[in-house]
Amino acid sequence: MKKPIPSAMALAAALLIAAGARAGEAPATPEQRARALTDQLTSDEQFSLLRSYFPAFQKKLPPDAIIGAGYIPGVPRLGLPSLRETDAGMGVANLLNKRVDDVATSLPSALALAASWDLDLAYHGGAMIGAEARAKGFNVLLAGSVNLVRDPRNGRNFEYHGEDALLSGRMAGHAIRGVQSNQILSTVKHYVINDQETGRNVLSAKIGEAALRETDLLAFQLAIEIGKPAAVMCGYNRINGIYACEHDFLLNQVLKGDWGYPGWVQSDWGAVHSAAPAALAGLDHQSGYILDAKPYFGDPLKAAVAAGEVSPERIREMAYRIVRSMYATGLMDRPVPDAPQSIDYAAHAQVSEQAAAAGAVLLKNTGQLLPLAGKLKTIAVIGAHADIGVLSGGGSSQVRPVGGPALEIKPSGFASAFSRITYFPNAPLAALVKRMPGATIRYASGEDAAAAAELARTSDVAIVFAEQWTTEGEDVPNLALPGKQDELIRTVAAANPGTVVVLETGGPVLMPWLDQVGAVLAAWYPGAAGGDAIAAVLTGETDAAGRLPLTFPRGEDQLPRPVIPGLAEKTNAKGEVTYGLAAGLKEFEVDYDIEGADVGYRWFERTGKQPLFPFGYGLSYTSFGYQQLRTGGKDPLTLSFTVKNTGKRAGTDTPQVYMAVPGRDGKPISRLVGWGRVTLKPGESRQVSVKIDPRTVANFDTAARRWQLAPGSYQVVVGRHAGDRVLSAAMRLPKMSILP
Ligand code: GLC
Repeated sequence: MKKPIPSAMALAAALLIAAGARAGEAPATPEQRARALTDQLTSDEQFSLLRSYFPAFQKKLPPDAIIGAGYIPGVPRLGLPSLRETDAGMGVANLLNKRVDDVATSLPSALALAASWDLDLAYHGGAMIGAEARAKGFNVLLAGSVNLVRDPRNGRNFEYHGEDALLSGRMAGHAIRGVQSNQILSTVKHYVINDQETGRNVLSAKIGEAALRETDLLAFQLAIEIGKPAAVMCGYNRINGIYACEHDFLLNQVLKGDWGYPGWVQSDWGAVHSAAPAALAGLDHQSGYILDAKPYFGDPLKAAVAAGEVSPERIREMAYRIVRSMYATGLMDRPVPDAPQSIDYAAHAQVSEQAAAAGAVLLKNTGQLLPLAGKLKTIAVIGAHADIGVLSGGGSSQVRPVGGPALEIKPSGFASAFSRITYFPNAPLAALVKRMPGATIRYASGEDAAAAAELARTSDVAIVFAEQWTTEGEDVPNLALPGKQDELIRTVAAANPGTVVVLETGGPVLMPWLDQVGAVLAAWYPGAAGGDAIAAVLTGETDAAGRLPLTFPRGEDQLPRPVIPGLAEKTNAKGEVTYGLAAGLKEFEVDYDIEGADVGYRWFERTGKQPLFPFGYGLSYTSFGYQQLRTGGKDPLTLSFTVKNTGKRAGTDTPQVYMAVPGRDGKPISRLVGWGRVTLKPGESRQVSVKIDPRTVANFDTAARRWQLAPGSYQVVVGRHAGDRVLSAAMRLPKMSILP
């Protein structure tokens, strides 16, 4: 009989014994197990872990390679499985696989999730998409996007969690925790301040260390502490002139030094520019190496070792970090089967619908136009292909939806090279019909504004769906709704004052028609069950619970950079906004020192500008009161208050806590320090307790390399959004000096 091949478990046990762990003792740690295995790796086997193949473009790969974003061969003789990577943060995005039946469930955009302010939802959403990745044979999900929205025109804002480091870091951290609850690996990305798409491969982000620590880095630090991601993906851009993937200060000193990050640093696809400098600066792995000028972490790095530029110990440590993460996430003890597993898409769609409904933000609701009452007889539904589906964002995070796209349109401009305008087949029209059987609900495309207006005029209520497609690879040049949608909305509202606007956008948009309409609901890109989620909120099946995770400006002139840096040079002869993945574009600088740490709502407070809608804003179908703000208890960093549902129907509220903190210029500016999220019946009250993370109210002292919190009395407020003050109190805080 053939000698049975030892299972991964048997091999691991053998290695543990070899590593000195005795049977009956405490189980070996991931570090011990990884060291034991790494010590068995030959030099070539170590090197084989340091770069990934791009399976869609490299055919001669081992049989266990599947089409996806990356493939890293394993070491079967040691029970080390190959790593099979796929995008991304809203679902398994694998458009490179041309098999049209390779579908997945898309969560709503990360902005929508952030707008729910619900950390449990973030976890369950991550757990759902991680389960689909595992079922499809992937063991690495390139999720955990946590870049801050420093520019509301960034084409990838829909993949990010807003403008505030605390909200973004916590939401991304719990999403990563959810993904990895499937014993697969997640990333956190794109390290760091990769905050615009225009010229992302060549721009240099100019920003002081303290401001960076207090914002974009803090978001990563929180996400890493909460989610313990297996890998950090460094981004394309330069920071103060040095590429992110060869940035010794950010990789070795901050990430691995100050924060003690134990996982591996992998590049973004096409973000590596050297061998020895990158390896010595802290990069552990070259992703999709064929996109770079050279397979830097192959022969060039071997040559660097031979030349004594890079030590064999550094190579070994690079391999060790990857193996350690495979143990720490549980993958080694529960390998992902090669054969695809079944997926309960119906149950997963429920998770997506719940997240989308929780993230829809009611921005205006004059005369309680919403929720749509049962007595309505006729409803006009207009625009944005609401009769067939809902919009989604473009680029590497694009999911191929279950049931296939309802519609795919080739965009103009650079994005057409790798993106399609895609509608998911869950139509708001059908969802409304399902929920309002007694009403006559008719659709008009909106291409003929007069016809749409006539339909609106002869209806009790008109609902205009307005859309803004955004994508990885390019930014939007301004915040206006594209095409003639503003005019359409004005025309419809003139025909029927009971007009509701539903926004399906990648971020904030301008609303020149705001005074003419009765209600506005920001639904973002609402995901696989987006039509149902929107209808659930419009009909009051669920309360309007979303609160803005970013500021809606009144105009681009209110922004730190009224024009996107680099945009001008990137407009091609046809006037299309373009940008290049490859080098050859002129290098330029984005000056983030303009706002520094005062991102988003803090910028508006600092400059005294009034936004269209502030960070944290959102209406409910009921009302809430706040009372009994208490500070000064045993723990000086903890406060509490009570929320009461003072209305006539159940609802969900997200009271926010802000503290006025003097910045480096001495001027106190509000910072989000915590929030509660409560669902209450009419008349019901609940106490909310908030424990402040001192890093959110401290300033980073680069000389002392510490977070410094000055002792004294600080004003703390409880409000419905940034700038709002329902309750306020003094809070005495002690002097604190905190390690980075
Ligand atoms: C892309 C993205 C990154 C993605 C990777 C693999 O360019 O920047 O988010 O995970 O490449 O597709």
